[in-house]
Parts: sequence; C-alpha cells; structure tokens
Amino acid sequence: MNNIETNSAETNSVKANNTKENILETNNIGGMLDKGSMLDKFNRPIVSLRISLTNRCNLDCIYCHHDGMIPSKSEMSPDEIYQILKTAKRFDIKKIRYSGGEPLLRNDIVEIIGKTSSLSFKDVSITTNGILLEKYGKDLINAGLNRVNVSLDTLNPNTYNFITKSRDTKTRALDKVKSGVLSVAKLGLYPIKINMVVMNNLNNNEIDSMFKFCKDNDLILQLIELMKSDYNNLYDKYHFNMSSLENKFEKLATEVKVRSFMQDRKKYYIDNGEIEIVKPMDNTKFCENCTRLRITPEGFIKPCLLRNDNLVDIVKYIRNNSSEEKIEEIFLKGINNREPFYTKCS
Ligand code: 5AD
Repeated sequence: MNNIETNSAETNSVKANNTKENILETNNIGGMLDKGSMLDKFNRPIVSLRISLTNRCNLDCIYCHHDGMIPSKSEMSPDEIYQILKTAKRFDIKKIRYSGGEPLLRNDIVEIIGKTSSLSFKDVSITTNGILLEKYGKDLINAGLNRVNVSLDTLNPNTYNFITKSRDTKTRALDKVKSGVLSVAKLGLYPIKINMVVMNNLNNNEIDSMFKFCKDNDLILQLIELMKSDYNNLYDKYHFNMSSLENKFEKLATEVKVRSFMQDRKKYYIDNGEIEIVKPMDNTKFCENCTRLRITPEGFIKPCLLRNDNLVDIVKYIRNNSSEEKIEEIFLKGINNREPFYTKCS
C-alpha cells in the first residue's frame, strides 16, 4: 500500500512571488504570522533551516561531505544564531536542525538549544555522531531539544574505526555512541534516527543487524545513499545502489509511505520497525522536494548542499546592527538564490 504523507507545508503554503512587499502582505512579516510557509522561485516551501555550528569534528569519516562547507575556523556566537533564528521565525520556518562538523563540540550547545527552543519552533533537532551524547543528552533535552539523528554506519568496532578513522581504540568510540543513543532513548527522546550511509563491501552486509539494533531500542533506521564528495573519491569504490534494498523492503513492508515534502523519501514499516531510504544522488525528486535552507558556521546562507558559489553573508549585517528589515532582505536573497541542483534535463 502506498500512502502519500502530506504535511502542513504542502497544504498551507502561501504563493509569494518573492518580493519583500508580497511576503509582508502574505505572511505578515513583522507582525503576527502564520499563514503558511514561504515559497521559493520554484514553488518549494522553506520549511526547515539547517545550521552548521562548526566545522570541527572529533571523527574524520572517510566519506564525509562536511555538509558541503568550505573549511573555516570562524563560528557564530549564540546571540548571532539567535538573530538568524528570529528572522527565520518571521519567515515562518518551522524546523531547526543543527549539524556540523560535530555540533556537540560547541561548549555553548546547551545555551544554543535553549535560545532556539524559546522561539517555539515546531521542531528542534541535532545531527550528531553521538560520542558526546551521553554527556550532554539530559541538558539538551531539558533545554528543549525535540529529537536527534545519530550517524552510525556499523556496529562492528573494526569497521567503525576504519570508517571514522577513530584513534580512540582504548575507550572505544563505538561504545560511547551506543551508550549515548541508549541514554537519550531512556530519557524518552523520540524519535531517534540512526543515519547509516550504506557502502558496498564495507557495511552493506550489516543492514539486518543494524535494523535489529534499531527495533530493539525503538530507533528509526535511515539508510543513506553514499554521495559524491569533493573531499574524497570513494564513490566508485563504495557506492551501493539502493534499489535492491527498496525492492526487498517493498515486499517485506506492511506499509510504505512516501514523504512528499521530505525529498520524496520512502518510509517502510517492517516487523514493527521503521526504515527510511534517503537517495540524494542524481535524484531530481530530491531537489524538487527540497524544503531546506542552510547556514554555514561562519554565518552565510547556503541555498544548496551541493554548491558554494551562491552563498549570502547574513552575519555581517547582524554584526553591524542592521535593521530587521535589512536582515529580512538578506534572508530573502538567500531564499531567492535557491535552485534545484539536479533538474530533469541535467
Ligand atoms: N554521503 C552520504 N551521506 C553523507 N553524510 C556525510 N557525508 C556523506 C556522504 N558522502 C551524512 C552522514 C551524516 C550526515 C551528517 O551526513 O550520514 O549522518
């Protein structure tokens, strides 16, 4: 059975033709909001903001695309992030996700989550490698964290150390991640998603065992297709074609949902567990249904994961105390720079 999961963004979207006046009129920016999500030039609603908090990481995964960021040491302060969040709120962005590098390496992460949560977004989440999750989990939840995605590609310690290039062999990085995940699950955080990048001859034989681990602990398994990255040339060696998995899950599932405004991801319900498949490569649907705007650690709006030639500096205007109108104008420029990377004719 194929259900189309509609979400509010789809039904409530406001068509705006991207002029400031129009947005003010249709979305009532600056006053009481909430008629629906802002649409970009390609009629895609902007539902979520993904803020990369740092380029620093305590692992060095062989495949990492570094969230498409250019390496840099500069990082926004919690107050600068808060200004961006307030603007995002006025554009009726619903969800905030923090990523990195490794976001839990920021020692002000609890403060950042607290400030975010004070603005009442529908959803505040973090993508983390989980190593510091046990340490910060409770404080993050108390500060208002709604959910977490944990990058975990394998349950085999040797494979884990190979993929993450972890040198932490004595204290076992993998054990820390597992206990981190279990600790926040025990505290009631839900949903917790496990991000597993599927790689040929590396971990593709572990999908069943990973799914069992997830089912046993009430976690959702998210299988991610390996993407090409400028940082490495592993694609040819490790790329795994996800269609065999889709065919297999299609047969096993009691229900399949297509998450239409989540880049058309497929969600399979199998054996009282959930598996999602994320296929970003050469996927026109992935771009057609992209509802995400990104912010780099140094404070630039990044309209597309796969491009760095259309960034818009927003933190500059926050630092020189520009008016709210000016900051909204810059934010809008970022939205207007959005265009699908993969198109039907490319
Ligand atoms: N291909 C697919 N997914 C990747 N990630 C990072 N690099 C890649 C890549 N080359 C994903 C990991 C991690 C998330 C932050 O980004 O799954 O969980």
